Amino acid sequence: MTNLQIFLDIATEAALSAGVVLQDYLGKVEDAITEKGRPGDLVTAADKASEKVILEIINRHFPQHSILAEESGKLGNQTSEYLWAIDPLDGTTNYAHQYPCFAVSIGLFIQGVPKVGVIYDPFHNELFRAAAGLGATRNRRPIKVSQTSELSKSLLVTGFAYDRRETKDNNYAEFCHLTHLTQGVRRGGSASLDLAYVACGRVDGYWERGIAPWDIAAGIILVQEAGGQVTAYNGGDLQIDSGRILATNGYIHNSLSQKLMQISPLSAW
Ligand code: IPD
Ligand code: CA
Ligand code: CA
Repeated sequence: MTNLQIFLDIATEAALSAGVVLQDYLGKVEDAITEKGRPGDLVTAADKASEKVILEIINRHFPQHSILAEESGKLGNQTSEYLWAIDPLDGTTNYAHQYPCFAVSIGLFIQGVPKVGVIYDPFHNELFRAAAGLGATRNRRPIKVSQTSELSKSLLVTGFAYDRRETKDNNYAEFCHLTHLTQGVRRGGSASLDLAYVACGRVDGYWERGIAPWDIAAGIILVQEAGGQVTAYNGGDLQIDSGRILATNGYIHNSLSQKLMQISPLSAW
């Protein structure tokens, strides 16, 4: 078994265990919802309990690796070439409202490159997995991106960061324009599932600003292994800390990239 397969299997064990925690807490967190600083940026007891379970499993198997977890920050050996990026509950706002669109997201960077990704939606029992060179799957069956090649026939998905009330670079103009130019733009509320849905062809493209490494680490490799493309808005190399991502089926990549560059000068990088 290759190392990547081992990492994939341990990430799967962690994601499935965390998924059980999320299902257990669902509908029971009303008293334990707080804001993390910005209005609307919620954290619940479920986020914390889920992260605890994931950290225990990753630390037990890979004590020498480094970790970036949404609720705990940087942990472990920060000089390691292995970095686990963990979102224990992606879609907290949905979760707090019992809107069934949330997931656990666990990605592994090796020397800064996304290599392994597991996204688990416990409500719908959908497990998305990928590792570099090993393909992408949904519930253990291979998945591919869609073949839509015209923006006018595409369905897109995006999101709005928690700083949207404080900045003009809030993605509203992009959302409106692209709603006119396509068959529709969805706002799912879980970046990792947005990427998983690009990977399995339910949507043709996804873009977002203000996004964190733990939101997208797993989804990047999933889209790439499903045959899609992941870049910066301008089509150049993705900078993981830039907060911006463009992920598509590849066929609409250039046209969506061009539109994003035209629509918002603030987003032109
Ligand atoms: C959020 C979701 C949402 C995206 C936000 C993220 P959280 O993550 O992924 O779709 O639009 O930018 O912060 O806070 O639910 O883990
Ligand atoms: Ca998130
Ligand atoms: Ca989260």
